[in-house]
Amino acid sequence: MAFARFLFHILLCGSLYGNLLAVEHFIVGGQNAAEGDAPYQVSLQTLLGNHLCGGAIISDRWIITAGHCVKGYPASRLQVASGTIRYTAPGAVHYPDAIYLHCNYDTPKYHNDIGLLHLNESISFNALTQAVGLPTSSFPRGAADLVFTGWGSQSAAGTLPTQLQRVQQQHLSFQACESLLSAYEDVDLGPCHICAYRQTNIGACHGDSGGPLVHQGTLVGILNFFVPCARGVPDIFMDVMYYRDWMRQTMSDNGKCAQVSQQTITG
Ligand SMILES: *[C@@H]1O[C@H](CO)[C@@H](O)[C@H](O)[C@H]1NC(C)=O
Repeated sequence: MAFARFLFHILLCGSLYGNLLAVEHFIVGGQNAAEGDAPYQVSLQTLLGNHLCGGAIISDRWIITAGHCVKGYPASRLQVASGTIRYTAPGAVHYPDAIYLHCNYDTPKYHNDIGLLHLNESISFNALTQAVGLPTSSFPRGAADLVFTGWGSQSAAGTLPTQLQRVQQQHLSFQACESLLSAYEDVDLGPCHICAYRQTNIGACHGDSGGPLVHQGTLVGILNFFVPCARGVPDIFMDVMYYRDWMRQTMSDNGKCAQVSQQTITG
């Protein structure tokens, strides 16, 4: 089947995501988020307000998302909607002036699927708009209280919900994860991944990509790939802790490429 082919591309620190799937994704089996539930959640959009991907506010000038969400877009073609649980009614809209992909991001394997957006103006924080905490150590493995949020589809063929959905997931060991994914050829998960799962019919779908997985207020993962949608296999996230050094370097150099191979797209 087609999805098996995508999964086949997962290598160490790789991610799996078909181009088709990368553009549109949503949570299946989630619950409506309440106003202010996930004040770090953003909707990455076209300038017409079409939702492309999820993301999270990590400081007043920086947004994190998946690399495949921003790959190929000049900064001038994207906007970031914040401070809302309805992406069609943003509390505020922000504009990136630079986009940074991980130095070792590549396609079609989606390795190191992390992207940072630098905004041209500071975000004003309020009750509905906050930066999420960044990890300083690994979260407890096996944690059952990981919260994932997104505006992704509620079924594989569905349209996007306007109201943000949230789902509670449990961290899975790579061994458990790989066994649930065994029907999908070789899945080689590495230290850059986090695997999270709830049950069949609950999980990520089109439009959720790049969205935040949070443990007690700390961002632990960014949605990398999933088998669409909620088919009883885990969702795979990039481990934010694993990418802390890269993030710190990229943010503190204020946009300067820290490594020769880093791709910078400016609009
Ligand atoms: C930021 O970008 C937006 C959209 O291009 C523009 O309207 C705004 O004036 C810019 N702000 C600054 C400080 O350059």
